[in-house]
Amino acid sequence: MCGIVGYIGDKKAPPLLIDALKKLEYRGYDSSGVGIVVPGDGNIVLRKAHGKIQNLQNLLRSKPFPDSSLGISHTRWATHGVPNKVNAHPHRDCTGKILIVHNGIIENYESLKAALQKKGHKFVSDTDTEVIAHLIESHYKKDLLAAVQKTIKQLKGAFALGVICSDHPDTLIAARIGSPLIIGLGKNENFIASDVPAILEHTRKVIYLKDGQMAKLSKDNVEVFTFAGKSVKPKIDKVTFSLDAVQKQGYAHFMLKEMHEQSDVLKQMVQKRIKGNTFHLEELSTLDKELKNITNIIIVACGTAYHAGLVGKYVIEALSGIPVTVDVSSEFRYRNPIVGKKTLVMAVSQSGETADTLAAIKEAKAKGAKIVSICNVIGSSIARESDGVLYTHAGPEIGVASTKAYTAQLCMFYLIAAKLGVVRGVVAKKDIDNVIQALKHIPALYKKMLKTKNAIARVARSNAHFGCFLFLGRNVNYPSAMEGALKLKEISYIPAEGYAAGEMKHGPIALIDEYRAVVCIAPESDTYEKMISNIQEIRSRKGKVIAIATEGDEAIKKHATHVLYVPKTHKLLTPLLVALPLQLIAYYISVKRGCDVDQPRNLAKSVTVE
Ligand code: M6R
Repeated sequence: MCGIVGYIGDKKAPPLLIDALKKLEYRGYDSSGVGIVVPGDGNIVLRKAHGKIQNLQNLLRSKPFPDSSLGISHTRWATHGVPNKVNAHPHRDCTGKILIVHNGIIENYESLKAALQKKGHKFVSDTDTEVIAHLIESHYKKDLLAAVQKTIKQLKGAFALGVICSDHPDTLIAARIGSPLIIGLGKNENFIASDVPAILEHTRKVIYLKDGQMAKLSKDNVEVFTFAGKSVKPKIDKVTFSLDAVQKQGYAHFMLKEMHEQSDVLKQMVQKRIKGNTFHLEELSTLDKELKNITNIIIVACGTAYHAGLVGKYVIEALSGIPVTVDVSSEFRYRNPIVGKKTLVMAVSQSGETADTLAAIKEAKAKGAKIVSICNVIGSSIARESDGVLYTHAGPEIGVASTKAYTAQLCMFYLIAAKLGVVRGVVAKKDIDNVIQALKHIPALYKKMLKTKNAIARVARSNAHFGCFLFLGRNVNYPSAMEGALKLKEISYIPAEGYAAGEMKHGPIALIDEYRAVVCIAPESDTYEKMISNIQEIRSRKGKVIAIATEGDEAIKKHATHVLYVPKTHKLLTPLLVALPLQLIAYYISVKRGCDVDQPRNLAKSVTVE
């Protein structure tokens, strides 16, 4: 949800700020802008453009920046004010001296704006962000840090900020609460950014600024303070993932690359976690006592992570007998949920920054629950807020459509379910072992399935003209159907619904005719025959059926229009396998329809606003 970058150092800031910003474009792509301080005359120069960063680059070809070694840049996902050039960041104060970029939402901006307008401040945009620039102006008495400090005290909401001022060509100010911000430490240069990929080309030494912290950067120094002004000794982390991880490496899209990476991500997970007949989740060992005594589990998550949580419910209940409910985070936090001291709340989030999930776990914590999270991004807000974190280590996921993070979350749920199963001891150990042993084979099966991608592409392309899709699954693959539908709608804009197949007769069957395609997830399972009946009901109403079935199932060919096969595995693990053809169907349909696969309209990778 918006990406920000700031640079101070010996290099030319403008091209660097644009390049770094492009690495954050997954966070929002409604409009973008760069502002710099020109050394010598101390002027501020600002360039903004509506739409993607490419438009800003085009503008800079006709109106290049003068040299500068201090600047800030922003790529926007609009919250307040339509996406256009005026509402694009950076924003400035009345004097034009102070420039800011912001990620987050200022909840009390209307009252602040009214008060500032009364004092004569002139606003040009419809954004909440602009109040910050004017507030800093109102407090500014030559000390920029002090003015930002006073401003922050008046703001309610979430923000990550970058601030520069033409009076201070050697200073970049940063602050955060609720929205992510890192500081990159270089040689004669320092950076701020919303995420690591932006600065990875320049440095691997980073400070993950914590909530309630701010920093003053010069080219050769970084000082960190609390909002109250107390000096803090920051922890310096070393980023371990490679630059390749944030580049397409020859793939047409990040999504395609990330789908291919799944076999390695899963391999690394099972190799790390399963050794022979034993498996390891040391991160939870401090919670062993609580896990023995918990009465129920509530999983909170959004979007694809929510679907992973739904699979988690089936698997945890099957292996441990602990009742699980799964809640969309934004529902959980506003419905006064019943959370006891013996409730374990699990948060699932790729980014670890999703505002609703973060708020949900804060709510649960306040009610006395222990929090365990499954996150991908190290040191993220949700991870820090949790009592135990299980990192999926899937590497950076750049495509807005979540793929490898999802299958890594599923893999983690199998391990957690097995751990809970062993702790609780209500399911036979051999049944748990069967799942764990089958999990070890999944990475190799992924490799095998990827070899069939051309066949999946053909089926996807030949169905890309349908105006509506239904995805049906049963039991542990009901969430797979929801995930398949979400993938398709978000990157191809085709209306798609994911349903429990048993519910088809209760409404969705009315949609079926020769113009609809139905993806039926029908691997070997206890409900296979029921799925075959569903397929027949669809075919007798002229609907087209793409069936996803287990290798060797020849019989299904006489029912379905197309059949895509996945290898045989333990029935609880089938969501892991069917995920790939579902992702590939969405991908190839999106490409065929000429959609923007990696940056679908209106979306952003991490949703850090409510
Ligand atoms: O970072 P998170 O896992 O918390 O994100 C949750 C959702 O915003 C995310 O899964 C979203 O639904 C994806 N675009 C789905 O592909």
